[in-house]
Amino acid sequence: MANVYDLVIVNGVTVTDTEISECDVAIRGEKIVKVVRRGELKDATAGKTIDAEGGYVMPGGIDAHVHLDEPPLFGKGSTADNYETGSRSAICGGTTTMVTFAPQKKSEDTLLDTLRATHAKAKDTCYVDYSFHLLVGNPSPTALSEFKTLREEGISSLKIYMTYEALQLHDGQILDVLLESRRQGITTMVHAENGQVIDWMTAQLEKRKMFAPKYHGTSHPPMAEIEATYRAISLSEFIDTPILIVHVSTPAAAAHIKQAQDKGLPIYAETCPQYLFLTKKDMDKPGFEGAKCVCSPPPRESEADCDHIWEGLANGTFTILSSDHCPFRYDDNVKGKKTCITDEYPVGHFKYIPNGCPGIETRLALTLGADRLELKKFVEVTSSNPAKLYGLYPRKGGLVEGESDADINIWYPAGKMQEYALKNEMLHHDVDYTPFEGRTVKQWPRYTILRGQVVWDKENGGLLGKKGYGKFIKRDASSLAGPRNPGEWDIPL
Ligand SMILES: *[C@@H]1O[C@H](CO)[C@@H](O)[C@H](O)[C@H]1NC(C)=O
Repeated sequence: MANVYDLVIVNGVTVTDTEISECDVAIRGEKIVKVVRRGELKDATAGKTIDAEGGYVMPGGIDAHVHLDEPPLFGKGSTADNYETGSRSAICGGTTTMVTFAPQKKSEDTLLDTLRATHAKAKDTCYVDYSFHLLVGNPSPTALSEFKTLREEGISSLKIYMTYEALQLHDGQILDVLLESRRQGITTMVHAENGQVIDWMTAQLEKRKMFAPKYHGTSHPPMAEIEATYRAISLSEFIDTPILIVHVSTPAAAAHIKQAQDKGLPIYAETCPQYLFLTKKDMDKPGFEGAKCVCSPPPRESEADCDHIWEGLANGTFTILSSDHCPFRYDDNVKGKKTCITDEYPVGHFKYIPNGCPGIETRLALTLGADRLELKKFVEVTSSNPAKLYGLYPRKGGLVEGESDADINIWYPAGKMQEYALKNEMLHHDVDYTPFEGRTVKQWPRYTILRGQVVWDKENGGLLGKKGYGKFIKRDASSLAGPRNPGEWDIPL
């Protein structure tokens, strides 16, 4: 008797990080149970069949850099999206798993309270599966002693900052975090910019009464990122423990990373669509418009910089491509970008513009549509590698029979989707703009499946997923290379 499945996907071209094939996929319950040559499922009975019509069938997107429902960091601004609206936006753009931040404030001693509070925000409200990175604002003895519990609770990564007064750690604190992370098998994410250089540049600009949004870029010179990246690599090499440098924007920082990788160090790197598609011109629009593209690090000098970042993605320097979705409403002087417009600063002040851009929904479509990455590389950096780096593979990020959750994007076959210009009103976040307004959309997920359920059908109802279907996923240690010399670390004598 023929096998019975809940859902089969036929006539697609399956793409993973290692293989492109004409395969059909069978799903039972929440899992992928068969990936077989095209046609081999024709006698199977299935509750539902989707004809991919030759479109690509890929593992669902994993966005490992997402800020939702965070308290104010810069003056008065606070995140526009909460877990409901952010995860809704994710699913409508083909992202089936997100890893958001659970931010510990400098004034707080413990991380476990932060974890509990963040669980409470996400529980029963998400459209996608999720986990958290603990953001360590205060590596107190208590916080360091809790890393072990974090691992037991399925949290295998945390993030630290080398800039922002409210969060910046000094090098001794970074070494504390790296050493304890090494002991517990945790991957440390580093925001690598030199905070003091940025403060100094900011003061120089203020002396000259230069307040417009574009000076945000001037206040974050490439040198601040290059120096901090090299320092982070050095600290990581010293402790011999893996780090992931988040949102790399500068070719020279990428070159440092590449050299470290060539030496065999476990240095991983992330970049984001902002650094592929935007330049400083986008912060230099009439009036206050440029604030829409203010994020840190800022979009860089020229398209040549963007080309280098694309090259780094193609040649493996960048392990992952995340959105750094960090949304603030534009036309909002209570919580958004315009909080920095005051009587004192009628045209705003770059220093007080909340830093960040929305992008969780556009990450996959814009990157695939740009047609600059090989397909396997696209899957690798947007899904498989985030899963491997953050301990989710092969449950997430793959199409592995019997092992992978049925989290799948089915894209449009060539010629089937009419190109269109992106408009913010097409998106599902709770933000009044997208930095990618007007960009040509050449591809979009036609169907998205999360643990066996069709949660997005672009032409028939759009969002079909349900709030609360997304669940917390406990993560394991990274499956990418770890310390070169495992065993106890001690100071070199
Ligand atoms: C790979 O990309 C990085 C980052 O743009 C660059 O530094 C490097 O020269 C590129 N090529 C090779 C062969 O490493």
